[in-house]
Amino acid sequence: MADLRVTYAGVEFKNPLVLASATPGWDGEGMKRAGLAGIGGVIPKTIGPVQDWAAHPCNGRLQLIRHGGKPIGMVNLELFTTKTREAWIKEDLAIAKEGGAVMQVSVLAMPHPEETAQLVEEIQATGMADLLELNVSCPMPASTVGMHIGKSAERTYQQAKAAKSAAKIPLTVKLTPNVSDMVEIAQAVKEAGADGVTISNSVRSFAGVDIETGMPLLRGYGGYTGPAIKPIIMRHLSEVARNVDIPISAVGGVMSFKEIVEYIMLGATTVQTCTAVMWNGYQIIPKLLKDLENWLDAKGYKSLDEIRGIALPHITTVEELAKLPAKYANIEAEKCTNCGICERVCMYRAISAGDTAHYVTQANCDGCGLCAQWCPSGAIELREASECLKTAN
Ligand SMILES: Cc1cc2nc3c(=O)[nH]c(=O)nc-3n(C[C@H](O)[C@H](O)[C@H](O)COP(=O)(O)O)c2cc1C
Repeated sequence: MADLRVTYAGVEFKNPLVLASATPGWDGEGMKRAGLAGIGGVIPKTIGPVQDWAAHPCNGRLQLIRHGGKPIGMVNLELFTTKTREAWIKEDLAIAKEGGAVMQVSVLAMPHPEETAQLVEEIQATGMADLLELNVSCPMPASTVGMHIGKSAERTYQQAKAAKSAAKIPLTVKLTPNVSDMVEIAQAVKEAGADGVTISNSVRSFAGVDIETGMPLLRGYGGYTGPAIKPIIMRHLSEVARNVDIPISAVGGVMSFKEIVEYIMLGATTVQTCTAVMWNGYQIIPKLLKDLENWLDAKGYKSLDEIRGIALPHITTVEELAKLPAKYANIEAEKCTNCGICERVCMYRAISAGDTAHYVTQANCDGCGLCAQWCPSGAIELREASECLKTAN
């Protein structure tokens, strides 16, 4: 059986799956449940603000985003924990600890770095935290905290430095995806001496408009999470992993074991999840872990170290890709059901209907590959010109 253990920021986790800082960890009991379900680590909702900052809209603050009826993401207008700092310190962290998972405590980067350092000291004085995750990335606050700090390499550096100087346990920093270049921010975090980065918090977004009333679905800007954000997070993750030597925890859109594998192949050590738990309950945790273990066993991998970062060396530039031999769509007539989807999605007018199967006019094909991915019967693949079957054209 594959060994799921990982060491992240100097701390050993029994497996790479971590409950992200969010609603499933709004109190100690929720985190305990995740721990008992077998998760490797748990993170509470971000602890920090005095309570009047932390008010959540109590008249609907979560909006499912659907496409074709299927949820593809969720926008939330949720700030930090609504529990008092005292409640976490006196009670909830201890309850959470009963679940047996590594405790990574999310602390808010406060408006002034010295307040952040004080918060770090208060949390670690409980003796409950194994490591810390500094939140410089909440997308909602208008100013002073959250991504207001995290979008600036300089402010992030100052906060990470202050937190690190107070921390006796490993300190990681949760970054914002709402920047054009996360690499310079991650570099600043490394220079401040932090032990890891979480990539990343949610994507600042707007949920939509009710066209019957003209009213916004949620009347503010929120954080977009769930499957739709995975490509955005993967871009940031891979750019940081290729350029900054720092341990990474990835988070965004994990719905199955496959995304856990993808994130690790792009360089992550732990992988966090929130929306999947909010949509499926804590019982998704053992399923994700079992599926991950079964996949590793079926592939013959003994540990996650064998797959970490293996996708990274293959990432290149569009300019370099353009130098490779051209490929063209190739339709296997025996598999083609003549449904016509490929013809419809081909903007180059390279595909036409034959009597029993569609066929490609190679001179028109631009090798984009969209037809192959839409084909419901797997009849199309991209091949070099010399490997294309003789077709009707
Ligand atoms: C309702 C909700 C509340 C959240 N609260 C926090 C928070 O307090 N602190 C934080 O760092 N991230 C918070 N997040 C962001 C998550 O930790 C995570 O980065 C994001 O949901 C992406 O992961 P997912 O696609 O698996 O949900 C929250 C997300 C949601 C959906």
